[in-house]
Formats: sequence, C-alpha cells, structure tokens
Amino acid sequence: MNKEKIAIAYSGGLDTSVMIKWLKDKYDADIVAVTGNLGQQKEIENLEEKAVATGASDFSFLDLRKTFVEEYIWPALKAGALYEDVYPLATALGRPLLAKALVDVALSENCTMLAHGCTGKGNDQVRFEVTFASLAPHLKVLAPLREWEFTSREAEIAYAQQHNIPVSATKKSPYSIDENIWGISIECGVLEDPMVSPPEDAYQITTSPEKAPDKAAVLDIEFEQGVPVALDGKKMDGLDLIMELNKRGASHGVGRLDMIENRVVGIKSREIYEAPAATILHFAHRELERLTLEKTVFQYKSHISQDYANLIYNGTWFSPMRDALDGFIEATQKNVTGLVRVKLFKGSVTLLGRTSPWSLYNEELATYTEADTFNHKAAEGFIHIYGLGLKTYSEVNAKHIR
Ligand code: ARG
Repeated sequence: MNKEKIAIAYSGGLDTSVMIKWLKDKYDADIVAVTGNLGQQKEIENLEEKAVATGASDFSFLDLRKTFVEEYIWPALKAGALYEDVYPLATALGRPLLAKALVDVALSENCTMLAHGCTGKGNDQVRFEVTFASLAPHLKVLAPLREWEFTSREAEIAYAQQHNIPVSATKKSPYSIDENIWGISIECGVLEDPMVSPPEDAYQITTSPEKAPDKAAVLDIEFEQGVPVALDGKKMDGLDLIMELNKRGASHGVGRLDMIENRVVGIKSREIYEAPAATILHFAHRELERLTLEKTVFQYKSHISQDYANLIYNGTWFSPMRDALDGFIEATQKNVTGLVRVKLFKGSVTLLGRTSPWSLYNEELATYTEADTFNHKAAEGFIHIYGLGLKTYSEVNAKHIR
C-alpha cells in the first residue's frame, strides 16, 4: 500500500517543526514541507536542511513575493481595505496565498492531507481551512495544534530535544510575531494587558517617533489606476517600492498601530502592528481618490472598503463575493492616477499636495476670487427645492404642538 502523504505549511519555527515529526509518527506518513516567502526576514535560512533533519521527505521553498504584491496587496490597497478602520491586513492577506501554494504542491505531489500550524483560537486556522475548502475540498485537513498533547512551549521543546529536532538557538522573543512585506503582527507577553503600552522591544522594524530624525522626509508617490508605480520620480517595481517605503517609513517611526480587534472566533484581542509602507500607501491612495473620484462613488466606496476588509479578515478571499467586489473596485480605479506628496515626521504621515490629470477639482468653481465662474444665482432656486420637504414637515408639525 502507498504511504499517506501530508503537505505541511512549514515556517521553520518550533510549532511546525514539532508538527513534522508528530504527524509523521501519528499517520506513518511521508511529509512534504512547504514554505512560502512573503518577505519575512526571520527564520528563512537553512530551512530545507532543517525540514529534512526534522523528518520531511520533501521540501519546497516558494518565492511568493511578486504574486503577493500584485494579486493580493494591490487589490487590497485599491479597495482601501483596513480592518475595523485600522489594520492593513498583512497576516490576513498572506494566509490565502500560503494556503493556495500548499494546495498546489499537495496536488502535484499527490498528497492526501494538508496540515497547518495555527492554534485553535485564532483567525489563521479559519483562513487556511476555508481556503482549503474552496480550492481542494477533497483533501483531509489536519490541525495538530488543536489536538496534540503539548500544553506549553517547554513541553514542545522537550519533545524536540528527545527526537533531535533542530530548533533555532536564538533566544525566543516573548512575543508571537507574524511578518511579511505588508506588515508585522505582534502579540502575547505583556501586550495581553490592553492598558500596558507596548515596550520598545515589541517593535521589530520601526524607530520610536521620539528617536526619529528631526528633519522630515518628503516623498512623491505616483499612482496609475490605483497602483503605486513610482517613488520620487523613479519608476519602481511593486516589491521594491514597498520595501523602500517600509525602510523609509520605519526610520521615521511611521506605521505603528495598537489595536483591540474583533476576531472571527468571537474573542477581542490586542495586537500591535508595524506597517510603514501600508500606512503610507493607504493614506496617499485615499487622498488621490478624494481628488479623482466622483462624489457618490467616493462616498459609496467606503462601504465596499469595509466589506472587502471583512472578507479578507474572515478568510473568504477565494469567493464569488470577492470577484463581485473587485468588479466595483476596478471600475472606481480607472482614474486614480496622479501624484501625492507626503511628509514623514516623527511617526506621522501628512499630506503636502496632490495632482492628477483626472482631477475633478476645478479651481474656477472653487475660488473666492474674481476668477469665480460658479452661478451664485442658481443656488437660490436649488436650495428652495432641496429644502422644500423639510420646510413642509416643520410647518405641519408646528400646528400640532403637544
Ligand atoms: N490579528 C492578526 C490577524 O488575525 C494577526 C494574527 C497573527 N498574529 C501573530 N502575532 N502571530 O490577522
């Protein structure tokens, strides 16, 4: 009989390392470890060696960064997707892509099961498994962290030592950190008390605003149909542009977020985020929309932004709903082309100016000078009719004083 084959979403950290050995023993299966590069800096060295030493029979390392930028981050940026108005959704956007990559490998390697290393009380298990269900409903899904015997990190480390599983020697941070190019999510440790302000060591990439340079940085960001394409007059590839904005934003203390958020599973949790590029780009993009979108489209789009953010957060990326919302969003981005000038200074991003060939701002209509072309007389009749309903209402009500 053929052995079972399990494809595992592997990060190289303690949980997924222990998982390889644990699943291999439990199912007497071959293990295919899959790691996706979404731009995380940590734990991507010697992964193949580590996976194999831990017991995997196969290892794939997939550079997903370009796909992540073009097919996940840009749609989310164009949508203006900020969960509960704050979180740019870095972790949440990465999950469906990792899940899809895992499914692709599983199908080409004839795996019968998929496994992930998410805990039983978070959002990520939902995102992985809902994606698996949309893309490969016939594969069995395993979530060892929901069922295994280990109740602490120490117990996992003991198991790892007992089975010669290499775990990284670097001192474990007191935080749980998830990282990709769109942002870093940090929780646990002292952060679990929402009244405790984050210690400096919780932040991984940003300089504290207090220590940021006294001299502001000015950035010119150019967009074409909602997508950033150039920085300071230089055309740039999306990935490079995001990395550059992360670097420059971080050095000015931009992009620190501290949020109580509503998880899919009903828990309120406190998360710290660092997302310099996402913060700058969402801000600049929206400012350009203020200039270029027709009034009702601009106002209506904020509902769509919320729906889109919820959809990403809730793990339903691969869904007919996203296709439908993308249709609306694409239509709105046709004229979101132009340049936005922003200033980074001690943790803040502020606007210096914006311009677009599609600008709907008409200076002759807006001006209070001689150049004014607005028809002031026409306002009178407009207001008369516009206010007629309320006028009638209040006349009728005045007759019936209670
Ligand atoms: N709260 C974020 C989300 O659900 C991040 C989750 C992962 N966080 C972490 N620190 N490991 O998208």
